[in-house]
Amino acid sequence: MHALPTPCTLIPASRYIAPEWATLEAERLWPRTWLFVCFSSDLTHIGERQVLDIGTESAFAIRAENGELRAFHNVCPHRGMRLCDNGLGHTRHVRCSYHHWTWKADGKLLSWPDGTRFDQPPGDITLRPVACEERFGLVWLCLGEPTMPLDEFLAPVADTLARRRLDRWVRCDDVTLTVPANWKTSADVSNEIYHIRTIHPEVLPIMNDAAGTIDTLGPHSRTTVHFGAPSPHMTASAPFDETMRGWQESIGIKPPLDPRAPHLRERLQAAQRARGAAQKLPWTELTDAELLDNVQLNLFPNTQINLYAHRVQIYRHRPTGDSPHEMAFDQIAYRPMGDGEARPALPPHKEADGRVAQQGAMMAVDLAMVMGLQRGMRSSACAGLRLTVEEAAILHLHRTLDAWLFA
Ligand code: FES
Ligand SMILES: [Fe+2]
Repeated sequence: MHALPTPCTLIPASRYIAPEWATLEAERLWPRTWLFVCFSSDLTHIGERQVLDIGTESAFAIRAENGELRAFHNVCPHRGMRLCDNGLGHTRHVRCSYHHWTWKADGKLLSWPDGTRFDQPPGDITLRPVACEERFGLVWLCLGEPTMPLDEFLAPVADTLARRRLDRWVRCDDVTLTVPANWKTSADVSNEIYHIRTIHPEVLPIMNDAAGTIDTLGPHSRTTVHFGAPSPHMTASAPFDETMRGWQESIGIKPPLDPRAPHLRERLQAAQRARGAAQKLPWTELTDAELLDNVQLNLFPNTQINLYAHRVQIYRHRPTGDSPHEMAFDQIAYRPMGDGEARPALPPHKEADGRVAQQGAMMAVDLAMVMGLQRGMRSSACAGLRLTVEEAAILHLHRTLDAWLFA
């Protein structure tokens, strides 16, 4: 195990398959970095909480009675029972399912069953706290000692996040898939657009992948993809008109504009600008391009925030347990709320086996690649990854990982 050389022509597959790498990440990465938990709007009411599991660790963030956000290890101090179930939960107090010791949202022990006998009164026992903060309408935690303050960690993406007004978005979908792969294998597939022309040709009529850009931003990176214009990789037989109309409806432009109209992208942007103003959507600070495009922030180490005007799609890739071949893939989506709109009930948390789940055609194809890569990289014939320029964000992830693991 060592840092990559400069220049780097091959990323060893051992980074994805060796148990020693998973152990190194468990010791040097996951306890020291800030981790995205959820949106602040998910935890509006006292006792609302979100669980985040990483490897063998688990924590939850919870809205306390004074309105502050707190976070704790997800383990009962009595005998070590896991306290909160996966996903979002909401009860004023957190009750352990085993002997019903009950904890306040500030981590203090509130009660235990009548008749319980103690040699020593347990009243001063508390849940073990975890660093937790809110920025830009997002909740973050660090399982151990953070390598740097959260503001420093987020500084390279602060402007992009601030302009999105994420405090005015609400969760509309919440799915976790278990996948037999390394968390980085999954992150990589969502971290490059080189594969759009080969395995997602159906989106080429509306997505100009050739105009995509990749920027490194401190430990993070940003991939921007243009929508509302066809790709030069599109074949002549692609159903351009039909796809362009369907996509316009999916992002809220109704009735759709003529797909063959001149200056279509500019007209689509104007239509979105007008809709945002009419519905008082939190789009006033967005550029014309941002009204259509996907700005994907690849937040180190494991969270991708796809910023569309009409939807924010989170992809989070987490190791589960201590194997390098097991992970969870969280897909959480948010929609913008109109000015003054009250937060509706949040969608239920769903979990499924990624080997059989059908999350739409694109996602099913991507998951097949993730699982195929993981199996292929275990072959003795796999030397490693040879990356093109269009896969530069993957190399950046490894360079940043090196800084965390070997500094
Ligand atoms: S383990 Fe939680 S109350 Fe006993
Ligand atoms: Fe894909």
